[in-house]
Amino acid sequence: MCGIVGYVGAKPAAPILVDGLARLEYRGYDSAGVAVLGPSEIRLHRDAVRVRELEASLPKRFAGKTGIGHTRWATHGVPSQRNAHPQLSADGRVAVVHNGIIDNASQLRAELAADGVELTSDTDTEVLAHLIARAHTSDTTTLEQAVLATLDRIEGTYGLAVLDRAHPDRIVVARNGSPIILGIGDREMHVASDTAALVRYTKQVVHLDDGELATLKADGYQTFTRDARTTKTAVTVDWDTSDYGSDGHAHFMHKEIAEQPDSVRRVLKGRLDERFHTVRLGGLEMDARELREFRRVKILGCGSAYYAGQAGAQFIEEVARIPADAEPASEFRYRNPVIEKDTLYVAVSQSGETYDTLVAVQELKRKGGRVIGLVNAVGSSIARECDGGVYLHAGPEVAVASTKALTNMLVGFALLGLHLGRIRDVSPADGRRLITALQALPEQIERILADEDHLAAVAKDLAQAPSLFFVGRTRGFPVAREGAQKLKEISYRHAEAYQTSELKHGPLALVGPELPTVAIVPDDELLERNLGALQEITARSGPLVVVTHDGVDLGVVPAHVIAVPKSEPELDPLLLTIPLQLLAYHAALTLGHDVDKPRNLAKSVTVE
Ligand code: G6P
Repeated sequence: MCGIVGYVGAKPAAPILVDGLARLEYRGYDSAGVAVLGPSEIRLHRDAVRVRELEASLPKRFAGKTGIGHTRWATHGVPSQRNAHPQLSADGRVAVVHNGIIDNASQLRAELAADGVELTSDTDTEVLAHLIARAHTSDTTTLEQAVLATLDRIEGTYGLAVLDRAHPDRIVVARNGSPIILGIGDREMHVASDTAALVRYTKQVVHLDDGELATLKADGYQTFTRDARTTKTAVTVDWDTSDYGSDGHAHFMHKEIAEQPDSVRRVLKGRLDERFHTVRLGGLEMDARELREFRRVKILGCGSAYYAGQAGAQFIEEVARIPADAEPASEFRYRNPVIEKDTLYVAVSQSGETYDTLVAVQELKRKGGRVIGLVNAVGSSIARECDGGVYLHAGPEVAVASTKALTNMLVGFALLGLHLGRIRDVSPADGRRLITALQALPEQIERILADEDHLAAVAKDLAQAPSLFFVGRTRGFPVAREGAQKLKEISYRHAEAYQTSELKHGPLALVGPELPTVAIVPDDELLERNLGALQEITARSGPLVVVTHDGVDLGVVPAHVIAVPKSEPELDPLLLTIPLQLLAYHAALTLGHDVDKPRNLAKSVTVE
């Protein structure tokens, strides 16, 4: 999704802006641009190009110590030079970069056009630049007043940064629904829509809240709302620039898959209580008595986070014996859901900025629901909006297809489920059983990753099929859904997930030599049922890839068998998911696709 960067200080701004944009590339974009304040004018350079090309084509005279930059993901108007940001006001006085969507843009465009303003792009953002320039009604109007006056006329969402030729010492930024993060440097200030662009320069950041604005100058910042100044506390980001490097791996996705043993160790660190066979989750901000009041758990997330939520709901229901289910946040927010006071709502998100999930949380809070977050990005919008939560500590995830964050979501749900269970009816012995299994996960994941060559060979085979089924039963179904999703996302192969139990109720009609099925077959109490389904598929000459445990007698001879180490049944889904990541990765490689930045997808969807 779109990215914003800004700089004000003593150094040349352009290289810092371009570097920031390069660090936001992973979010997905189709055009890029920068604007700096020269001695008497705003210098603008933008096009529908990659950041690398933008940098290479920067004009020689592009000096300026204050500037803003943007990577755009087209919403209003095709990717093109004139639609790229920054957008300039007609008089060249004001430049704006903007994330989000202005809902009343067409009405404002019509008004501006009727007033003789020549509109030079198809974007909603352009109106902001014109309106801010025109809001300077007298010589004493400040940029802050002009921005506030403009925002009064705007309906929609925005994260924006504004340059004004008449106020070369500052950038004014504003947030409503789209993240804006200030980075506090040494006699310089940075701003970005994502900490990835800031960590090279500073670890001290300030997150704006919705309705807040800020003025950034070289010597500091001031935050305010329409009515008053506000006081913010800076937080320290512990992610490093090196976390954003590919570390010798061909792709970020590969690096992030390989990091999983370590990232699982991190999410477990300090949280397992071996003495009392339970879990410590200080961030929940709720004591045992409060947690016992909940009679239901409802999990909300989007994409892979939703599938992790489905697996999490099963874990919680099975272990803690609390009815639990998951729903896409993108649906929940639109259906005026009934909010129950004895339901614990859980929002799950890697980025903490997914707009659908954020709006679902806000709706829940408006209606008095208790909501906690399972979030990776510390200090992100969803994390701040929730009443408490469990940070996932996966470290930054750059590849669009989620791997290590998803795995840590599954661990996060296991921690939550065990915690809820131990304050109810889960015995110390059962607690110990699950804690021992959690502790074994990192080493078990290492063993799965060591099987990469074999998985790459299977993937090569699967990549030939235009269409595939992924099937799993109960605990295995979210695994199948996530496996199909991953393959779809990066290899562009059609992959559909079904409950194994549903095969005979319809999908079996498609099974035949042309359609391979990836079947999730854990060695658990449903093994016999799953083996029956393998027979049905084989009888129709359907090629099979079976993801199972060591030592299972499948009773058929599949094209490929992938065996993973056995965990406790409740935690098996986590390990069964890992080989599917490598299958998708190698299938995409075989087909020659851009693994880290698949077409049409963004890492974090921060707009409607
Ligand atoms: C986007 C990404 C998905 C991701 C989903 C949720 O759609 O393309 O890969 O699973 O957002 O993201 P989140 O940051 O909330 O986990």
